[in-house]
Formats: sequence, C-alpha cells, structure tokens
Amino acid sequence: MNRHHWWRDAVIYQVYVRSFLDSTGDGIGDLAGVRAGLPYLRKLGVDGIWLSPFYPSPQHDHGYDVADYRDVDPVYGDLDEFDRLVASAHRLGIRVLLDIVPNHCSSEHPWFREALAAAPGSPERARFHFADGRGPDGSEPPNNWHAMFGGPAWTRVTEADGRPGQWYLHMFTPEQPDWNWRNPEVADEFDQVLRFWLDRGVDGFRIDVAAGLFKHPELPDSPDPEADARTRDSVNPLAWNQPEVHDVWRHWRAVCEEYTARDGRERLLVGEVSVPSAREHAKYVRPDELHQAFFFDLLGAPWDADAFRKVISEAMQDIAGTGSTVTWVLNNHDQVRTVTRYGEPAEGSGLGAARARAAALLMLALPGAAYIYQGEELGLPEVVDLPDDVLTDPIFRRTGSRARIRDGCRVPLPWSGQASPFGFTSGAEGAKPWLPQPEYFAEYATHRALADTRSSWHLYRDGLQLRSALHQLGEGTLRWLDTQPGVLAFARGDDLVCAVNFGTAPVPAPVPGTPLLSSGPCRPGELPGSTAAWWIDGS
Ligand code: NOJ
Repeated sequence: MNRHHWWRDAVIYQVYVRSFLDSTGDGIGDLAGVRAGLPYLRKLGVDGIWLSPFYPSPQHDHGYDVADYRDVDPVYGDLDEFDRLVASAHRLGIRVLLDIVPNHCSSEHPWFREALAAAPGSPERARFHFADGRGPDGSEPPNNWHAMFGGPAWTRVTEADGRPGQWYLHMFTPEQPDWNWRNPEVADEFDQVLRFWLDRGVDGFRIDVAAGLFKHPELPDSPDPEADARTRDSVNPLAWNQPEVHDVWRHWRAVCEEYTARDGRERLLVGEVSVPSAREHAKYVRPDELHQAFFFDLLGAPWDADAFRKVISEAMQDIAGTGSTVTWVLNNHDQVRTVTRYGEPAEGSGLGAARARAAALLMLALPGAAYIYQGEELGLPEVVDLPDDVLTDPIFRRTGSRARIRDGCRVPLPWSGQASPFGFTSGAEGAKPWLPQPEYFAEYATHRALADTRSSWHLYRDGLQLRSALHQLGEGTLRWLDTQPGVLAFARGDDLVCAVNFGTAPVPAPVPGTPLLSSGPCRPGELPGSTAAWWIDGS
C-alpha cells in the first residue's frame, strides 16, 4: 500500500486576503490580518490555506493582474510579514498555498512595458502574443477571439512613432496580457518564481487558469465565436486546453518533488482546470502532473439529486478511477455563494441556507479533497444588492451587465459586533470596508457562530473533526445505496453512510438510528427535506 499523501484528502480553506481581516484600518484585508485569523482556522480544523494573490498589482482584477511575482503589494504587507505568516501557520499545523498566475500578467509588469516600448518582431514582444491586425490598415484584430470578461481578446497598441500598431492578446482584460509560453524565457521565469516562494517555505500553489497558457500556434479564427462570447467556460478549443500545457505541469511537479527530496515535505499543486469533460480533467492529475485540479461540475450542478449523482459518478469513474483524487468545491471567489445559488426566492432564504449546509456535509463525505471558501463556514449568503457605484469586478465594467459579477461573494467577513465593519477592520471608528457590508451580516459574525452550536460553523467544524477521526476518509470509493427518487445515499467502506434529501418533505432515513451528524434537526428513522446526515458505524 502506498504511503498516504496528505493532499489526497486535505481540506483547504480559501482566504480571499482582501476580505478576510484588515489589520491596518484601510478597509482592505491584509497578510497580518490573515495571521491574526489563524487560530480561528485552526479551531475550524482545516489542513491548509490558499491565499488569493497578494503580489504588487494595479488591482484591475484584484491581484490576478500581477506586476511583480516576487513581492507583496504594500496594501497587503511585505515579505517579512509574509514570512511571519508562513511561520505562524506552520506552528499551528496549517499549510500555506499561494495563488500563482502564469497565463497572464499585469500590463504594468516590467516585461510588458519593455514589450510596448520595443519594436514589432523584437525579443521583448516575443514574450507575449503580439500580432499585426487584419484589414488593409491592420485596424481589425488578428482573429475573432473573445475575452472571458467581455469584448475582443485583442487590444491595439500605439507604436513609438505615435502610429497605431500591432495588437496583443489578452484572454481576460486588456490590463492582463497573456504570456507566450512557446517562448522558453517565460517558462524559465516561472521556474524561478516557483523556487523563490518554495525557498520561503510555502507548501504549494493554486494555479490560475491551469488549462490556459498555450494557444493554438497559428492563432486561427475560432469556428464558433458566438458560442465563445456567450459563455465564460473555456469552450474556444484554440485558446485553451492545448496538449503542450501538460509538459509545464510535469516540470512544475518535478520542481516540487525536488524540494520534497530535500526535506521530506510534500508540496501541492492544485490547478484551476475548466475543461469540457471529467475525462479531459483527469489528464491534468496524472501521477506526474498536478496533484489536484478543482472539479467544478459539482459547483455547477443544480440542487437536484440526479444532477448531483451524475457529476459525482462521473468524477469517481473518470478521475478517481485513474488513481488520482477528486478535488471538490462548492464555492469560491468567482461564484454566487451556495446559500443564494440553491435558494428559491419564492420560498424564503431558509431553503437556500438549509441546502447549502446539506451540500457541505455531502462534499465532506466524498472521497477526495475539498476546498472551503471563506465565509462558507458561516453560511454567508451572496450580497446581491450592492449598488453599481461600489462594484469593482472588471466583468461589470467590460460587459455593462450585473449578470456575472463577482463582488457579491467578496464582501469582507463579519467577525463581531452589531454594525459594519463587524470587526473586519481594526482601524479608527468610521473605517470603511472596501465593499459595504449589509446590516444582516451581524447574524453571521464569527463570534456569534462560535457561540451557537447550531451554526454552520459548528457543522463544518464537526464534519472536519469526524472526517479526520475516520482517518483517510478522503481515500477509497463510494457505494450508492438504493433510495427513493430525490434522495441520494452512499456508503464509504464500513465507516460512514451519508444521505441527502433534495426534496422538501421528510423521507424515511436509509439507515436506522440517530445520525451522528446532520445538517438540520433529525428524528430517528427520518430524514427531513433539504437535509444531509451522516451515520457512522456504531452510532
Ligand atoms: C480565475 C480567477 O479565479 C479569477 O478570479 C480571475 O479573474 C481569472 N482567473 C483571471 O485571472
């Protein structure tokens, strides 16, 4: 039997640094704030944290536009503060993952500035995708690709002589030029960046847009540009999921192994992988590639037993079936929070909250690893009524529509008290969080959640404790049990049965006896609607 690898069943907590805890009083969370919050995370019982990007950045996409990959933006602290954070986390047994952004940088990155100043065809431009435009005067973009955040994927530059010149490619905003990974200088630079942070003691990286990096070498037109424009998914087969990207992950894995060989600590690479099928997804987690890749299909599934069963079965067959581990996720900083996503306006807010708790218990019972997004453990809903003038998401700016905006899941966390800033910022009175917190956040404050044993926080904490007590629950497989329609139940070895009632009326429980853990009150022999429960051997 293989030695157990910690990451295979790890539960990692995503810290959106800007919105976690502000130690300086400027209304923006920072690394010292994360350090102050570590005891809270230790109590919750997570294995590690993933820090959203804190590098120097003009913040056009909240740090996913990196101007310097080897430093900390002064808004978030400095390298000394970073070192203190890693040391404190390690003392508490919490591993630290950084968010690395290799598909694109900031238009303020020195190499991009050099590229703008250099001539067409220069080595400086060859680090990015510069191309001549189409049409007689080159005034049309080089191809018909759309950017993920709206508008064309190309922007035209002004050359040194003041005339309109070449175009550069950006799959997100114009402030995020895409790197050209066919240029070995780019690969070498990222090799050095990885080592810079590994030398500072980090435990791994969450890799942004990990199915990106390479584009079709000829940058041809997309056959169905309308489909690409309609969806934010990586459907343009010429811009995403090119086979060459796997060589990069093999190399990065080898770098991690090199560090492990030195000190015995296993590092973790987790990719943000959006690809069309679980089978394609599985390629990213081959034994010599990424350790984990977020499996977003669970997050994308509607609240429906058949939909959940389908995505879970596919993941178990196509991903876990190859010997790797599935990485489950229900929330992150780009998605409407589960409480709101699963809610039905006509039925009041309680339904979404109950379903979100049930989904969490289901996720924690599945074999594999799981990620929790900050505030999920508090049962925070999406803030849906932020006024237009406070929105910062570039998607809003570029599409003019609120439909896909992400500010609502990024509102700073409530920690204590009855009024904003709810302990989020330690600044003088009147300090304002960078996004306004609604009054009802008082109900969700961490102090309140810790004191109330019926809170979502306690459900997550108990689920995590039981998960680790059942040792390696993340390993192995699951066996579906027969149930009535609208109910899912599965067994994990001899240890655990998990059942979820997706309907609203109670059903007979699939297992006799009182569950050891449930997402809502349960009577023996009955599983209420919108509820999940765990029966543990002998309970
Ligand atoms: C995915 C990140 O999660 C998202 O927040 C970001 O805007 C895009 N990648 C671009 O970096």
